[in-house]
Amino acid sequence: MTTSAHADGRRAVKAVIPAAGLATRFLPATKAVPKELLPVVDRPVLQYIVEEAAAAGIKDVLLVTGRGKTSMVDHFDRRPDVEARLEEKGDYERLAAVRRTSELADIYTCRQGEPLGLGHAVGTAASHIGDAPFAVLLGDEFVEEDKPLLPAMLEVQRRTGGIVLAFMEVKPEETARYGIASVQPSDLGEDIVEVTGLVEKPAPEEAPSNLAVLGRYILPPSIFEAIEKTRPGSGGEIQLTDAMAQLLADGTPVHGIIYRGHRYDTGMPLGYLQAVVELAAKRDDLGPEFMAWLADFVAGGARG
Ligand code: UTP
Repeated sequence: MTTSAHADGRRAVKAVIPAAGLATRFLPATKAVPKELLPVVDRPVLQYIVEEAAAAGIKDVLLVTGRGKTSMVDHFDRRPDVEARLEEKGDYERLAAVRRTSELADIYTCRQGEPLGLGHAVGTAASHIGDAPFAVLLGDEFVEEDKPLLPAMLEVQRRTGGIVLAFMEVKPEETARYGIASVQPSDLGEDIVEVTGLVEKPAPEEAPSNLAVLGRYILPPSIFEAIEKTRPGSGGEIQLTDAMAQLLADGTPVHGIIYRGHRYDTGMPLGYLQAVVELAAKRDDLGPEFMAWLADFVAGGARG
């Protein structure tokens, strides 16, 4: 394919994880514990997300935090006291797991003083990111480890220099829960479409497609100027979608990759429970026993 006039051949090497939201859909659990730290089996959600970035070669990760959420940063710090105890006990497997969290990536933080919306949260990353493309990974969802999404998104962004989104196909009756894209075919490859518009939570009869935006974006640095110009939109929040729509209108190429793997949405109880069960079932150590118990439970026989 031809290279777009917007492209300068650079691949994004930094990621921003907006994690300063209030998590109202998961209250009261999230009153004092950030939803990003809720455990899925034995790792917090946020660790899956940082691992996803690291696996795609992104080792510079900026966490956007807010009031009461600083414990998220501690998770990626060293814990010499815990490490010493595990060493004494000879529990080398857990020792390696604990050490790994501090070695995954270089974690930086910035604050979003008030949760004024996703666009606003991304805007707080401007000085850390500078004049380069970057990835945004929402702090409450992640994708299957063995079906990565970011590498293909990063490559499309490098070639186009524009915005790259990721979509999942949803049932027609589900469109009102998501941002939905209108698209046309592209010459960039299988499962890659050109985005011509985005509609927030359309009723099924108004939805331009069944392609729902999931929480991964690769953005050019011009997004920061667009965010500054963006006025509060739906819900009184500064929406990333509105800033992206400005760039689209100004001629920035916008593409989307249709993701065929599973995306875990841990932002509310049902999706969270599904993630815990699926990932527990997949584990070599826990899976067989857990599945046997679950089958028994579903059949009405489990007693604890
Ligand atoms: P959500 O849309 O899930 O919002 O944000 P929320 O506030 O976390 O949760 P609810 O809707 O009240 O239950 C998606 C991601 O964007 C971050 C959140 O922390 C989450 O990881 N976010 C959202 C911010 O960092 N700042 C904001 O102002 C809004």
